[in-house]
Amino acid sequence: MFYSFNSAKTAKIAGIIHNAFSGDDVQLVNVDKVKKEQFLEFDNLILGVPTWFDGELPNYWDELLPALEELDYSHQKIAIFGLGDQKGYPENFCDAIGIMATFFEEKGALIVGKFPIEGYAFQESKAARDGHFLGLPLDQENQARLTNGRIENWVAVLKTAFG
Ligand SMILES: Cc1cc2nc3c(=O)[nH]c(=O)nc-3n(C[C@H](O)[C@H](O)[C@H](O)COP(=O)(O)O)c2cc1C
Repeated sequence: MFYSFNSAKTAKIAGIIHNAFSGDDVQLVNVDKVKKEQFLEFDNLILGVPTWFDGELPNYWDELLPALEELDYSHQKIAIFGLGDQKGYPENFCDAIGIMATFFEEKGALIVGKFPIEGYAFQESKAARDGHFLGLPLDQENQARLTNGRIENWVAVLKTAFG
C-alpha cells in the first residue's frame, strides 16, 4: 500500500485498511521517499490519494507521476482509495481517484476495487465512471461513520480481485 506517511487523514485510513487485511501480507510504502522501481515490485498495489486544490493531486503524488510515467504496469492490478469532502467540494469530489486510475490504466494496469456510487451526494467527480467509482472514496468530513463499513466491503472485494 503506497501513501504518504506524512498525510493526516489518509495515513490514518491506511492503518484501518491495513488492519482489515489482517493476516494477509500488506507492505506499507511511504510515497514521500519512494523510488519508482518499487512500484514494479508488487503484483497488486493499493494507492492512497486525497484530493487537494479543487480537484488536484496533492503535491507529493503530482511530483512523482512524471517518473512513474516511464514504467509499464501491464502485469499489475491497482486499487485506489481516496479522501475527499463532498459537501465542501461537490464539483471535484475525490477527483484524485479518477486522475490516478486514468493515469495507470493508460500505462497498462488493471484497475480493481470499483465501488458503488449510492450513498454519496456530490455534483461531479472524475472518480465516477459508468455509475461506479473507480476506487473507494472516503469522506471523513461528512460521512466518517460510514468509513469502517465501506472499508470492510472494499477489502472483501480486493481480496477476491487480488486473488
Ligand atoms: C485546500 C484543500 C482543498 C481541497 N480540495 C478538495 C477537492 O477538490 N475535492 C475533494 O473531494 N476534497 C478536497 N479537499 C478535502 C480533502 O481531500 C480532505 O480533507 C482529506 O481528508 C485530506 O486528506 P489528508 O489529510 O490525508 O491530506 C480539500 C481540502 C483542502 C484543505
